[in-house]
Amino acid sequence: MIKDIQQKILNLKKEKDICILAHCYQSPEILEIADFVGDSFALSVEASKVENKTVIMCGVRFMAETVKILSPDKKVILSNPDAGCPMAEMIDKDMLVQVKEQYPDYLVVAYVNTTSELKTECDVCVTSSSALKICSALENDKILFIPDRNLGSWIQKQLPDKEIMLLHGCCPTHAMMKAKDVEKAKTAHPDALLLVHPECSPEVVELADYVGSTTGIMNYAKNSDAKEFIIGTENSIVTHLQLECDDKCFYPLSKDCICHNMQATTLVDVLNCCKGTFGEEIVLDEDVYIGAKRCIDKMIELG
Ligand code: 13P
Ligand code: SF4
Repeated sequence: MIKDIQQKILNLKKEKDICILAHCYQSPEILEIADFVGDSFALSVEASKVENKTVIMCGVRFMAETVKILSPDKKVILSNPDAGCPMAEMIDKDMLVQVKEQYPDYLVVAYVNTTSELKTECDVCVTSSSALKICSALENDKILFIPDRNLGSWIQKQLPDKEIMLLHGCCPTHAMMKAKDVEKAKTAHPDALLLVHPECSPEVVELADYVGSTTGIMNYAKNSDAKEFIIGTENSIVTHLQLECDDKCFYPLSKDCICHNMQATTLVDVLNCCKGTFGEEIVLDEDVYIGAKRCIDKMIELG
């Protein structure tokens, strides 16, 4: 049944010149029919190179908007219109404008998990895999890092010469994991290495053997000689790693680390997007497009 739907998608993709981009949190059956799978940064780079007329983005809204900004002449479809990122909505433009007025000498660095409208007020975007490189390359030592205070504090620890100001945003899915979850998982699996996403809270990050983006975590686990891993990011990564590495064992840091937005897209949604009966075409106002493009282009250049 799944194979039949996948075949229909592959046929329609070819017939209609569609490219399917999928974030690594998507389900295995979606990853199998995608043209490209990656973390937020790799997807952005890929989006700027795509040649197809239509791109379907299987992920969340800010990812589809990033694709549209990098490929404005293409038809860009968000695979499920309900898939947003709650963190992206945590700071609005008016709030940021007020903070900027109070701290005019700070450069505004925005995690790419933000709305396009908010990006118009920022200087440069970063992703989890490019944040360290980009922040250290910035000439200005005063940085206002929005919206993820966990990613921001992880960067601050590694760049003590920078003064990084944080606000109150975070990813509800990653921030719910605590040091007591690490203690529990380590007691159950004492030989396992702990690999976590920098969106986790500092108390979890401090206990980790490796901190990195979704693909960073996957590459680390695949290349490591260790045999057991506790994974502190969305639980789809536990499944993908277990499918790819039969000789290793993967355990979730918390059974509750599930992003319902990332899991909102089904294989049937993708089929219907290919048919043209589902999904949302991304349309951005000209001023939003121009303002957001400036800091996304800077991210690609510096990242
Ligand atoms: P990556 O940058 O690792 O792809 O993470 C995106 C994201 O939304 C993680 O929650
Ligand atoms: Fe947003 Fe967190 Fe879901 Fe990533 S896991 S899309 S940051 S809510």
